[in-house]
Amino acid sequence: MAISSNMKTILGSLGPYTFVKTDDGTQTIFSHYFDETCHSSSGAVEETLQNYVFGTEVPSRLQASQMAQHIFTILEVGFGAGIGYSATIDALKSRSISPKGLSFISTELDEKLASFALENLIKGQYLQSFEKVIESGLTYFKGLTQEDQIMKVLIGDARVTIPLWSTPGEKVNAIYQDPFSPNKNPTLWTVEWFEELKSVSDLDCILSTYSSTKGIWKSMLEAGWRVSETKGFGNKKLSTRAYLNPLKDSSAQIIKWCQDSPLRASRDPGRT
Ligand SMILES: C[S@@+](CC[C@H](N)C(=O)[O-])C[C@H]1O[C@@H](n2cnc3c(N)ncnc32)[C@H](O)[C@@H]1O
Repeated sequence: MAISSNMKTILGSLGPYTFVKTDDGTQTIFSHYFDETCHSSSGAVEETLQNYVFGTEVPSRLQASQMAQHIFTILEVGFGAGIGYSATIDALKSRSISPKGLSFISTELDEKLASFALENLIKGQYLQSFEKVIESGLTYFKGLTQEDQIMKVLIGDARVTIPLWSTPGEKVNAIYQDPFSPNKNPTLWTVEWFEELKSVSDLDCILSTYSSTKGIWKSMLEAGWRVSETKGFGNKKLSTRAYLNPLKDSSAQIIKWCQDSPLRASRDPGRT
């Protein structure tokens, strides 16, 4: 399922969002605040499946966690229209894999947008309901799901909410790194941000993102991720996968491109 609305525009806490149809027939939204659409014009759902759900190998890795009776945690950076969640559930259902044991944690700056997307997930029968919870300084929406699983959307700047959410008992296995682009939303592409993601992740974590600039590769490398390039979606030549597993090396091509580039890793001025 993608988002569906008869409206042309909705008003979020950060301003309006306009619905835009993409080439796979599904809709995305254009944020007037960030001046960018949430997905590739080549296909909102198809992009989400390729870059995130299969990019982090969720179906097979969730099944392995179920066999070992472990929780499998996905952390999505940017809940947006909620397509990361619906595409994940659809991909599992189409392979007859139960979402049992899945913990889906997303982050969203815009509270009204998150409410709208959650209502939409209820309409699509992905959730039964959701409630707002305020706990130890953290505000989040908790989705009531049909299976034995967890679904939460942390409200506020992810740089603040992720440290508040993190617990030593729950480490992240897959990261959908899907904020707006480094040009439009630089704070979520810095060395400090990738260090934060590393600190909440398990050694088997796979981080996937549509972006493939030398600047973000340098930030990831400096934060201790092992980085490789892979085919991009639509008209994007490349996308990025990053690992913590010490048995995986960064790709020789990425190391070379980074060495040859004068660009620097980007730093968060408020966090150094
Ligand atoms: C590209 S859209 C995400 C699309 C979403 N994954 C989906 O499939 O529908 C990026 C989202 O990140 C949110 N965002 C931007 N900066 C953020 C921040 N610092 N903390 C949390 N969310 C943020 C934006 O409000 C926007 O909704």
